[in-house]
Amino acid sequence: MSLSTLFDEIKDPKNRPDPYPLYARLAGHPVVRQEDGTYLVSSHAAIRALLFDPRISSADLPPAKSPPTGNPFKDWILQPIKDEIVSRHRPLIFRDPPDHDALRRIVMTQFTISRVNAMKARAEAHLGELLDKRCGAREICVVEDIAYPLPVTIICEMLGVPREDEPTFQGWATQLATALEPDARHDEETQGQTRATFDAISAYMKVLIKEKRRHPQDDMLSGLAAGTEAGAMGEFDLIATSILLLVAGHETTVNLIANGMLTLLRHPHELERLRQDAERAPRLVEEILRYEPPVHFRTRKALADIAIAGEVIPEGAPVVLLFAAANRDPARFAEPRRFDPDRPDNQHFSFGGSLHYCLGAPLARIEGEIALVTLARRLIDPRLVDDPPPYREGASLRGPKTLRLSVDRIA
Ligand code: HEM
Repeated sequence: MSLSTLFDEIKDPKNRPDPYPLYARLAGHPVVRQEDGTYLVSSHAAIRALLFDPRISSADLPPAKSPPTGNPFKDWILQPIKDEIVSRHRPLIFRDPPDHDALRRIVMTQFTISRVNAMKARAEAHLGELLDKRCGAREICVVEDIAYPLPVTIICEMLGVPREDEPTFQGWATQLATALEPDARHDEETQGQTRATFDAISAYMKVLIKEKRRHPQDDMLSGLAAGTEAGAMGEFDLIATSILLLVAGHETTVNLIANGMLTLLRHPHELERLRQDAERAPRLVEEILRYEPPVHFRTRKALADIAIAGEVIPEGAPVVLLFAAANRDPARFAEPRRFDPDRPDNQHFSFGGSLHYCLGAPLARIEGEIALVTLARRLIDPRLVDDPPPYREGASLRGPKTLRLSVDRIA
């Protein structure tokens, strides 16, 4: 197998359970051109350099294009206007400076430490309820029963989405996450479903924002809708931002919890240590992020010819930043294939880096820590039913579809 088709192998679902041998093949080849002209970047040093390079763009989504309806008024007037609006008001993860920075500053005014910390008690209570529901059971699915419902509840609460609408949000979040998978962006059926979901959630958010303007409460959406000291967002950016917060914070956190529990069950000594000492949770979560990242790669576009690591990435070329490979780069991490929560200086790329560094990282860490501590304490003698478990299709957002455990009991 040639290195110039390696990205196809990485995206192939059959390699989802263990893509790491593929990444290891990139050792000594930090930047590799793929046959289709995409550049795969895998070393810690090269990714770091590109994350800080202003010639690399995050605006790599194709322009929005609604399918023809057969109605000339819609096809020639309405749809092109809508497509133009959608393309211009991409969420900030797909935007470059200066728009990106202005939007990010506004969101940060609402992502306060006190608001994030207030979610600790909420996450603990919600996890307690989720596990209580399974009391008496001898089997539990970490994904369906725990990891999936938790992040959506937390982000809905922070945004100020009514509780009864959470189940609908869960479905929306799953569909919209496909926008982060490069192949799904070009698959027509997925595009159609994503467009319909986007329309549904946009209509919902429009009504909710109006409501927050009329009756502001102590939540992020009310704060953003009212305008902040860093500026105000127009309605389209506000809708795009709320959708981003939901999507970026959902499946990623599900993967953190599921990958985390899977890793602990494969390292039972660490699970036992966590059960005995909850203080180990932060370093465990950090190492899980490095070792089994919820986001394996993000894509970019070169805005100019960029000379890096002996290659030239030409202007216009798609670029893949393979964070998961860099997290196991032997030039940066000693014994990178070893799971070692006590590893010093654990500067992984699982939350990205530089100007797009994950805005939700503190929240994700809290959710991950609380979930793993609670599971370690309450699941008595947990054992994996399938190892490896079945994985979801996504190559970028990588995590188990189900993670079934048999238990003696749930305490
Ligand atoms: C374990 C969970 C999470 C992981 C692994 C994760 C990972 C990432 C990564 C890798 C990026 C960088 C994207 C890039 O460079 O293109 C990112 C950006 C982002 N994340 Fe997260 N994320 C997580 C949880 C969250 C949560 C809980 C939220 C919010 C509720 C969130 C909101 C965002 C936003 C808004 C951005 C875009 C920042 C920007 O473009 O400036 N994330 N995340």
